[in-house]
Amino acid sequence: MNTTKEKTLEQVTEEFIHDFFARSKNPEKQDVIADANSSHLKHLKEVGIPEKGRLPEEVVTEMTEQVYAYGYRSEHPRFLGFVPSTASKLSWLGDIMTSAFNRHAGSMANFPAGCTIENELLAWLCQKAGFSSQAGGLFVSGGSMANLTALTIARDKILGENRWHLGTAYVSEQTHSSVAKGLHIIGIPDSHIRKIAVDEEFRMDVRHLEQAIQKDLENGLLPFAVIASAGTTNTGSVDPFVEISAICKKHHIWMHVDGAFGASVLLCRQYRHLLKGIELADSLSWDAHKWLFQTYGCGMVLVNDKSNMVKTFHSHPEYLKDLDTEEEYLNPWNLGVELTRPARGLKLWLTLQVMGSSAVSDAIAHGFHLAECAQQELVKNRDVEIVSPARLATLNFRYAPAGLTEKQKDELNLRISREIIASGFAGIFTTELNGKKVLRICAIHPDTTQADIRQIVRRLNDYYYEQRSKIQPSAMDQFAS
Ligand SMILES: Cc1ncc(COP(=O)(O)O)c(C=O)c1O
Repeated sequence: MNTTKEKTLEQVTEEFIHDFFARSKNPEKQDVIADANSSHLKHLKEVGIPEKGRLPEEVVTEMTEQVYAYGYRSEHPRFLGFVPSTASKLSWLGDIMTSAFNRHAGSMANFPAGCTIENELLAWLCQKAGFSSQAGGLFVSGGSMANLTALTIARDKILGENRWHLGTAYVSEQTHSSVAKGLHIIGIPDSHIRKIAVDEEFRMDVRHLEQAIQKDLENGLLPFAVIASAGTTNTGSVDPFVEISAICKKHHIWMHVDGAFGASVLLCRQYRHLLKGIELADSLSWDAHKWLFQTYGCGMVLVNDKSNMVKTFHSHPEYLKDLDTEEEYLNPWNLGVELTRPARGLKLWLTLQVMGSSAVSDAIAHGFHLAECAQQELVKNRDVEIVSPARLATLNFRYAPAGLTEKQKDELNLRISREIIASGFAGIFTTELNGKKVLRICAIHPDTTQADIRQIVRRLNDYYYEQRSKIQPSAMDQFAS
């Protein structure tokens, strides 16, 4: 006779939380990646949906061990690729609470206290950005949705419905791809998006911007939005906001700043001056799931005059009339795309309440110091070329020994990246700058230490010497030397 008693859902949940905390102890001892091979994925595809339900503890264990255990651990302190996750356990707790209570946070009537906190938090963030007292915003799923939301508002404000087809928008060569995607969704074709050249610091070149706008005006087109960046994904560069704003004002163009990555620097006492002029923007995207320690699904769009959000997004269908309010801008569903939405901002509120703004400021400054440390360590190797110096915790470099062709250097750096990832020790990926393949470090995790950085550089150097010996110098260069 089987005497084991079935566990209650409460027990299974408690055990999961206990197990989760145990697993996430000493993350530095784990690999940065756990690769799922094709036979494992094939097995998962075969699980299917059972006709007769299974025990929750069995399914939870299976999901923990066979699903969540695999993939890039982007929250690992030595994962320095793309934009790593910095999610704190506080945000995790906030996320659980949001799901547990599952309040519909689309309107004040549904969830007055939650919407009030989100609105207050957004007002505080607007104030940090230096926006006007008319400013407001919305918590959205991330930077892509924030950019889409802001650009939709810009289109409506500047173009008006019957002139959409004439609208042109201006990005730089370093602007994130989600901006072009957003423009495409709102009806601006690729042929109306101008990619403005960048200067040697990867910032939008304002002379080229002015020229491009003039040319479009002469051709009867309607420049409606310039998208500047506060921290480009590749290099952490910050566009010249003051100059861009002057051009926008002159031509009556909406200035949007994509600060999905870098806007968090506004909360860092030591470095917030780097974003000078951001207050001149009409709108700002800002991801809390990047450099503000949140689990995924937490971004913000802030607009300097919130009445513009309402004009684009408000709607009053008959089935929601009971929940209408005089002050339309208080209802999140009047400010963006979503109707039903979780109160995404509450986990950020919880995090900020417990950490306090001073610790947040220090944690952001830490990223700057890590990237500077990486640069200092790397330049000790004379074959390292710094392609874009430490900026907003981001650094690009490459091993460029004499005697190799540019193509061979690209191959060499790609191999170094693959080796260190395959070793499980660190996540360092490549990107391309000025036509060259480079290695990139984005060091924003508050738990990454300078010792981690030194160890990573040591290993990169080891892989460099190993791989360098496997690539034959080109005949031409041998001859030249
Ligand atoms: C500058 C920038 N903008 C927008 C995005 C898109 O944000 P999300 O992935 O949250 O949609 C990213 C993502 O890395 C980014 O770095």
